[in-house]
Amino acid sequence: MNDSQIVRPARNLRGTVTLPGDKSISHRYAMLSAIADGPSRLENYSTGADCASTLGCLRSLGVKWERKEAAANTVEMQGSGRVLTAPTRSLDCGNSGSTIRMLSGIVAGQKFSAEMAGDESLSRRPMERIITPLSAMGARIASQNGRPPLRITGGTLKAIDYKMPVASAQVKTCLLFAGLFAEGETRIEEPLRTRDHGEVALRAFGAQLDRIGNAVRIRGGQYLHGIETHIPGDLSSAAFFLCAAALFPGSQLTVPNLLMNPTRARLLDILMQMGLRISVTQLEEIHGELVGTLHVEGHRVKGATISGADTAALIDEIPVLAAIAPYTEKGIEVRDAKELRVKESDRIVSIATNLRGMGARVEELENGLKIPGGQQLHGCELDSFGDHRIAMAFSIAALRAQGETIIRGSECAAISYPDFFSTLEHLVER
Ligand code: S3P
Repeated sequence: MNDSQIVRPARNLRGTVTLPGDKSISHRYAMLSAIADGPSRLENYSTGADCASTLGCLRSLGVKWERKEAAANTVEMQGSGRVLTAPTRSLDCGNSGSTIRMLSGIVAGQKFSAEMAGDESLSRRPMERIITPLSAMGARIASQNGRPPLRITGGTLKAIDYKMPVASAQVKTCLLFAGLFAEGETRIEEPLRTRDHGEVALRAFGAQLDRIGNAVRIRGGQYLHGIETHIPGDLSSAAFFLCAAALFPGSQLTVPNLLMNPTRARLLDILMQMGLRISVTQLEEIHGELVGTLHVEGHRVKGATISGADTAALIDEIPVLAAIAPYTEKGIEVRDAKELRVKESDRIVSIATNLRGMGARVEELENGLKIPGGQQLHGCELDSFGDHRIAMAFSIAALRAQGETIIRGSECAAISYPDFFSTLEHLVER
C-alpha cells in the first residue's frame, strides 16, 4: 500500500479537537496491565498501529484482552501476573521502537526464550542501548549487529546500578520493568530528565519506586494491581494542530482532555515564547498524569533555538516545529539532536529534503538543522520516508504553501494517528 494525500493551502484553523490516547502512556499501561494481578480497563487507548503492535505481542505472550472500539476505544485486559506464556512465534513489533525496547524488559524476566522483530525501519534501529544493560542483569540477547530481530533468553535477573549513556525514556522504562523481575534494587541514572510516564505508570499500578535527582530506584519482586482509567489525549499528536494554529494569526483551537505532564509539555513553553497565546483550564491529575483543556490563539510567531535538555524534551515535536520554521519571523535552529538520525527515519535528512523540495533554504548540521525564517514555500510532491511524524509535519507546512502539496506514503500517519488527515480537514478553514 502506498497512499498519497493532497493538502491544499488554508486560511485558518478553528474548532475543538479531541485526541486519541497518548501513545507513550498506552504502551506502558498495556504492558503493566499484562503483568498485573487482576483486570484493567483502559479507555481512550491509542488508536495508532504502534500501540496495536504492543497488544498483538501481549496476546502472543498469552495475555487475554478485548478491544471495544465502539466504547471510547477501550481495552479490557486480564492480567497474567508476573509469569507470561512462551510465544509460539516471533513477537511482531511492527514499526514500534517503544514496543521492542520496553517489552524486552518484561520478556527478559521470563523463563523462556522469545524472538522480537519488526518492519524494515525497526530493523535498522539501534538496540545495543537495551542489550548492554539487560545482559548485565543476566538476560542473554542475540541480535543482528545490535539491531532487530532480537532473541531474548530470560530468567532470574539481578539488579544493576546503571548510568544510561543515551537519554531515552524507552530504555529507562525497559530497565525499570526488568527491575521488577530482578533480585535486589535496580538503580538507573539518566543523563537528562526524560519523560517520566514509566515511573508514573508503575506507581499507578501499585509499585513503589523513588527518585533522587536524575536517578530512579526500584525493588524487585513487587506485585502490581490492575487499574481503570481514561488515557489523556496525545500531546505529540496535538502538536501538529498547535503548530498549524501558529501559522495563522486568526486561529482558535480548543483541546480537551490533553496530557500536560511537565516532562512532555515543553512544546507549550516554546510555542508561548514564540508568540502563541495558550491557556489551560480544568487541570486535574489522573493516576499521577496531569490532564487539562488547552485553548490556543494564533499570533505572529518569532522563532526559537532548541538545544540541550529542550531537544530531548521536544524530540517527537521537532519535525513539525522544523516544518513551520520557514514561516516564523526569525527561523528555528535545532542543536544536540543526534537522536533524530535514528528515529523511524533519519529525521534530519527527511526534514531537510522536504523543506528544500518546498523551496526553503535550510542548513543540515551533523546534529541538527538551521532553518531561516521569513520564507514563502511552494507546494510540491513530497515523500513521507515511511515516517508518520514526517507525513503529518509536512501536511502542516503545506497549509501555508503556495499551491497544493502531495504527500506520498501518507498512510504511515496511522502508526500514531489514523484519523489525522480527516481531523485536519475538519479544523481548517479555506
Ligand atoms: C518514547 C520515548 C522517545 C520518543 C518515542 C516515545 C517513550 O524515544 O521519541 O516516540 O514513550 O518513552 P527515546 O526513548 O528513544 O528517546
